[in-house]
Amino acid sequence: VNHLLGIKYLNESDIQLIFETADHFKEVINRSIKKVPSLRDITIANIFFENSTRTKLSFELAEKRLSADVLNFSASQSSVKKGETLIDTVNNILSMKVDMVVMRHPNPGAGIFLSRHVSASIINAGDGAHEHPTQALLDSYSIRERLGDVAGKNVVIVGDILHSRVALSNIFALKLQGANVKVCGPKTLIPKHIESLGVGVELNLRKALEWCDVANMLRIQNERLDINYFPTTREYTQQFGVSKKLLDSLDKEIVIMHPGPINRGVEITSDVADSKQSIILNQVENGVAIRMAVIYLLASKIKQ
Ligand code: CP
Repeated sequence: VNHLLGIKYLNESDIQLIFETADHFKEVINRSIKKVPSLRDITIANIFFENSTRTKLSFELAEKRLSADVLNFSASQSSVKKGETLIDTVNNILSMKVDMVVMRHPNPGAGIFLSRHVSASIINAGDGAHEHPTQALLDSYSIRERLGDVAGKNVVIVGDILHSRVALSNIFALKLQGANVKVCGPKTLIPKHIESLGVGVELNLRKALEWCDVANMLRIQNERLDINYFPTTREYTQQFGVSKKLLDSLDKEIVIMHPGPINRGVEITSDVADSKQSIILNQVENGVAIRMAVIYLLASKIKQ
């Protein structure tokens, strides 16, 4: 398959191949070799129908480091505003001989839909509350880097699980690699049948943190939120916010992750985000190597 639409479509050996390829690219970057000629004959369009800082910049940098030609499309500055459809937009871009499309879209399944209607290779950079596969890959890669392995580790995902594509992709990726996964957050923000994915539910944050090796802190997805779902921000922070005082009261040091953007003082305090326990910026750094690996592996199939 020439697409990366979700972790749901990968197996454990796909993930290991991506990690080994990312190891290679990370090693190359660390030797200050900022550009390799691998994809000189590949053109990639990054089309974003939703805001992004990390994912957009990280994909663009990964593509440039692989020497691909890069087109950047932002829906808010495009003819989508004049009523052009998704398929028309992408087919117009593809007629400029584009080989690969990296797409972020607010609708769940937008990447799957696109992959059925166009000939290019599609990478899902986040589709609504569905999946964000490269985020989950870079998250697991960062756990592996910090703790040596993902298998057997206890990982809790804290926050707005219901609206989070990061949570779902992480659950798939972590389970494939043999981690133990729990989710923690307000009951109203935890999907009803989440246990069917093989994850536990812990509504008490302290108990969740006492159990875990890694806590992946998520932001409340206000842009997807029905206001009736939710406790107030103040109540959320009181019950589910992680502070340094809380971390220091545990009898072990856990690893803190966050996909960004952080709402400092809501789900996580600054002294946690900026602490030694936090690998938040390592996640961002690893995102480039992971995206180089994904693009490189998909492009090698296009070339066949
Ligand atoms: N983690 C993440 O997807 O961040 P952006 O929304 O800034 O891309």
